[in-house]
Amino acid sequence: MSEGNIVFRKTLDERTTSRGPADPAATVVPMRMGTAGVGLLVNDHREATRILSDVETYGSAGELMATVFDEPAESHPDSMSDEMVFAVNQTDGEEHRRVRRALRRVIDTRVRDVSDQLIQDVQHSIERALTLGRLDAVASIGAPIADSVMSRLLGLDAHLVSALRTAVYQGYPVRELDATLVDWVRDRRAHPADDLVSDLMAELPSLNDRQVAANTRLLALSGVEVLAALITNGILCLAQDPKTQSLVRDDETLLPDLVHEVQRYASPIARGIYRMTKEPSVIGGYAVPAGTLLIIGVDVCNRDTSAFPDAHRFDLTRGRDFEHLTFGRGRHSCLGIPVTRLIAAQALRAFLSGTTSFGLAVEPSALRFHDTMVMNGLAELPIWVECAN
Ligand code: HEM
Repeated sequence: MSEGNIVFRKTLDERTTSRGPADPAATVVPMRMGTAGVGLLVNDHREATRILSDVETYGSAGELMATVFDEPAESHPDSMSDEMVFAVNQTDGEEHRRVRRALRRVIDTRVRDVSDQLIQDVQHSIERALTLGRLDAVASIGAPIADSVMSRLLGLDAHLVSALRTAVYQGYPVRELDATLVDWVRDRRAHPADDLVSDLMAELPSLNDRQVAANTRLLALSGVEVLAALITNGILCLAQDPKTQSLVRDDETLLPDLVHEVQRYASPIARGIYRMTKEPSVIGGYAVPAGTLLIIGVDVCNRDTSAFPDAHRFDLTRGRDFEHLTFGRGRHSCLGIPVTRLIAAQALRAFLSGTTSFGLAVEPSALRFHDTMVMNGLAELPIWVECAN
């Protein structure tokens, strides 16, 4: 469908070309992960799918990942208790089931309650952005949409949102952020508000403040901020593909296919899913001992040529009959899929119907992504737009 080559993140292209028949070993790569030692990076779609589906052999990697991303406790003698606390995606078994069930209930209820307002916010953000003529889609579209979801859905204020962004884009450690979040949660517990985090505390009062804070961080960063990156990644693809722009402008029923293909081709998640082997196992031909950290190379798996024909092509005609790994899979799969699809489709619909054409205002080689291995999120996206009226 698209005629040219749609440029996405250069480092992803480099990582995908080192994978594949020319270098089969690159499908499973030993990788040093700080204090967690050597982990295995899994770039193979079939192996990754098998790992994510087999919860008996491959468990969550909570403690191992905490040692990679969090600051050593001794550097913060005054900080909170050093007992580790995990978000839902870092737990297994009954604890995971209990928190996941509660989160599913509060997310679904809240999304239903605020979806009309969210859609209106998206529409307003796009209308405001389109008055600019030339704009940075990250600052003028992605950030305001993320702000709206953080505030309407989660109840986070501007100060917290800014602290969260600083932590994720200027790199971990996250202890200071967590202390700020715990203070905020404590306050919310004393004074519940009309938001998802207050709902979660009411639904599961046994979760302590630090556990609620850990889950809030997950929802805000791995959820809302990634949702915004998905939207700007979609605009990046479309800005280079006028043919797909006009096809979707002329036929909005193609929007779900468009969103699905953006999720695959321009995944906002890079190396963002982790597991740990619970028992010895074989992965991509390697004998792997128990206790090994596994890193799923989500964006590379999504370009696996043995799973997707013409995998390096951004192609609307793929439909939706394929399984990318952007939302994970199996027992820990994403609970934000419906709200993500709703908001992303609404944003791209509003953007396409408000323009007759748009394109990149810089050379693709000048595009800058945030320097994090966990996600693919643009630092800025300069574009020009021609408005519909
Ligand atoms: C483009 C947007 C999003 C992407 C790409 C995404 C991706 C993911 C991925 C890959 C996982 C699996 C993690 C794992 O297996 O370890 C996950 C889990 C999760 N996501 Fe999302 N997410 C998005 C948006 C959201 C939103 C908006 C919410 C909430 C409102 C959300 C809530 C969750 C929760 C609670 C989990 C943990 C589920 C569990 O461990 O049982 N996500 N997400």
